[in-house]
Amino acid sequence: MSTESDPEPGSRAAPPASGEAGRPHHSESTARFVAWVRAAAPYIHAFRGKTFVVGFGGEVAAGPLAQSLAYDCNLLAALGIRLVLVHGARAQIDAELARRGVEARFHNGLRITDPAAMECVKMAMAVTRFEVEALLSQGLPNTPMAGGYMRVTGGNFITARPVGVVDGVDHQFTGAVRKVIAEEINADLDQQNVVLITPLGMSPAGEIFNMCMEEVAEAVAVAVKAEKLIYLCDAPGLLDGDGALIASVTADEAQQHLDAGEGLTEDLHWYLPCAIRAVRRGVARCHLVDRDKDGALLLEFFTPAGVGTVVSRDPLFRVREASGDDVGALVALISPLESDGTLVRRGRELLEREVDRFSVVEYDNMLVGCAALYPFSEDNAAELACLAVTPEYRRAGLGGQLLQRIERRARRERMDRLFVLTTRTAHWFRERGFSETGPEALPRQKRDLYNLQRRSKVFVKTL
Ligand SMILES: CC(C)(COP(=O)(O)OP(=O)(O)OC[C@H]1O[C@@H](n2cnc3c(N)ncnc32)[C@H](O)[C@@H]1OP(=O)(O)O)[C@@H](O)C(=O)NCCC(=O)NCCS
Repeated sequence: MSTESDPEPGSRAAPPASGEAGRPHHSESTARFVAWVRAAAPYIHAFRGKTFVVGFGGEVAAGPLAQSLAYDCNLLAALGIRLVLVHGARAQIDAELARRGVEARFHNGLRITDPAAMECVKMAMAVTRFEVEALLSQGLPNTPMAGGYMRVTGGNFITARPVGVVDGVDHQFTGAVRKVIAEEINADLDQQNVVLITPLGMSPAGEIFNMCMEEVAEAVAVAVKAEKLIYLCDAPGLLDGDGALIASVTADEAQQHLDAGEGLTEDLHWYLPCAIRAVRRGVARCHLVDRDKDGALLLEFFTPAGVGTVVSRDPLFRVREASGDDVGALVALISPLESDGTLVRRGRELLEREVDRFSVVEYDNMLVGCAALYPFSEDNAAELACLAVTPEYRRAGLGGQLLQRIERRARRERMDRLFVLTTRTAHWFRERGFSETGPEALPRQKRDLYNLQRRSKVFVKTL
């Protein structure tokens, strides 16, 4: 029975006025949230069906962010990412050794695992594994894991060999990876299981060996041909001499940092060599991410700038010529700058016709910058137009690289002058060898089209 306050069937109830009980009005933060989710879509498409191997030490499993990490793993798995987790237990092993009064012994930072220590290792590894499994098995209502059952599996996927005697020191039950049974891990991943690996390896003789988490994660990532290997570490990522985060490095650059030995925290000292080897052996990217930053994995994977350091075999930035496939990305890149009047409006159709005039810069296969060259052969002059870099990637020299590419193209086409019309970027061009001139210096064809209303400044550079 309808009452006075019931809306008519099919009609909409009026929204509550601001401040009334009920659903809050859409706010700026809601708009930001919607924009963020939309911006994440390309990454979600790119990562579905890809394998990520995440390595983390025992401190993470026992730390305050362990639960959030489980939530984020649950989200990654729900997005179709094939997830392998490799946990360590160094802190838990040390605690167990202390509890039993067994001395912790290391040689060059590597644990010496004698039979007494091995008992502690087995205990600490087992307890840590159960705790991680429990975290991954949460499902309480009103938590991000409600309704999201993650089936966690593991097994005898790794065979080990003893590290043996190094510098005259017998490491006893400390082991190194001998073989990863990748088919079995992949078979589990195919069933939408999350694979949790404990760094204990069995030998064909039936012995158990204690291995380093980071080496196991590296070996697994290489064996299963992972898209990404991620280490959660005790630093925001790799830092330069001034303590600033380095967003991306090639394996060769990372090796130089390692050789210089500067700014390496304890984790980075161990993880960076594994990262370098992994990308050289076919893992597309290795990420070093802060274990103490809540949501670090999500920020690293689903935002353009990320929060840690990416190690790749080859540079992530690539300047190349544009093709028809780039038109959509070009529209997305330049339309905000057309709307605010920084760039002249072009429209999609014109871009489609003129796309081969563009050079573009990619970061990790995403288009993040562009510039176009329009030659006026009669006057041996060319125009540089539509120079733009996505805001998140500015101040990394990409604008400069695009300018160099355009200058090289202009020289190849035997142009002796490059000019540009600009309303807001005069100083940027001046600092790169351009000098101001007037519209009368433009090639005749361009002079006829010069838009007096935009009052652009004309800059020219002799090539
Ligand atoms: C101009 C633009 C392409 C530069 O790209 P970029 O990749 O950041 O360029 P670089 O890294 O090579 O150079 C960055 C330097 O230029 C400076 N810069 C950026 N915009 C500038 C401007 N409008 N005027 C003067 N300097 C500027 C930055 O402050 C930085 O200098 P700093 O590191 O010493 O502070 C980018 O800022 C952009 O897309 N701007 C909006 C579009 C535009 O103005 N295009 C030109 C149309 S003609």
